[in-house]
Amino acid sequence: MTLPRALPWLDERRSAMLAEIGLPPWWQPRALLPRPGAPTEAATPVEPAVPIRAAPPPKMPAPEAPAPAPIERPVAPQPATEAPHTDIATLGWSELEAAIHACQRCALAACRQRAVPGVGERRPTWLIVGEAPGEEEDRQGEPFVGRAGRLLDRMLAALDLQRGHGVYIANVLKCRPPRNRNPEPEEIARCTPYLLRQIALLQPRIVLALGRFAAQTLLVEGGCLPPTEAARAPLGRLRGRVFQARLGELTLPVVVSYHPAYLLRNPVDKGKAWADWCLAAEALGSG
Ligand code: URA
Repeated sequence: MTLPRALPWLDERRSAMLAEIGLPPWWQPRALLPRPGAPTEAATPVEPAVPIRAAPPPKMPAPEAPAPAPIERPVAPQPATEAPHTDIATLGWSELEAAIHACQRCALAACRQRAVPGVGERRPTWLIVGEAPGEEEDRQGEPFVGRAGRLLDRMLAALDLQRGHGVYIANVLKCRPPRNRNPEPEEIARCTPYLLRQIALLQPRIVLALGRFAAQTLLVEGGCLPPTEAARAPLGRLRGRVFQARLGELTLPVVVSYHPAYLLRNPVDKGKAWADWCLAAEALGSG
């Protein structure tokens, strides 16, 4: 398993947090940390089968002013009066959210109760990107509020993070696919401009892509993987490394990890997911 060089957070409190996530005590202790004096296991990033497009090191924006921005909760959906030919790439926050609520760019518009733009601080350190709203998210208009969302919140807490404080949470798709089926490529293509505009406005310092669809979308858009390669690569081959994705004007570190819904079904992989989150935190620290 690829581990970050240092896991400075395994004090008593964090161990308790990890227990909350469902990481058993045997995962946490020294067995997984480099033993003093022992040669450290070299980080062995999983290389994709094709060369990653070289990108310059990220230019990290200066740390934000201390006062955290207020949590941006979802607003009530606007009437569906989407302006034709809206240039999404030029929209400010309120127009962007209005455009998402009014969106008719794909067939998912017909089945949604509420579109789900995203939630959180608008100049966050972390951007978490999931797949698509589920049933509860469709009802409430906020991402990750169901079971998977509760696990996500516990993972955030284990890093001393909190929804809305230094974190913005969004999905690749802003509308729920019927019966939570996988997103269709056409739906992703139609919805991605919204995510890209969010990224341009948010300017996060690190992006965590949760699950296959978020990983594929961000890595392809960011020039890290050609689409054919991304479509073939299992998620396990994309995690464990820090990509540099060119997203619009920004070059951002992107770390791929398992989707919380997958982790609920496969708790044995929670340890790997935790290592990914630590890797992202470390990339942030070294940026
Ligand atoms: N799964 C996601 O990917 N996003 C959500 O908002 C909820 C569940």
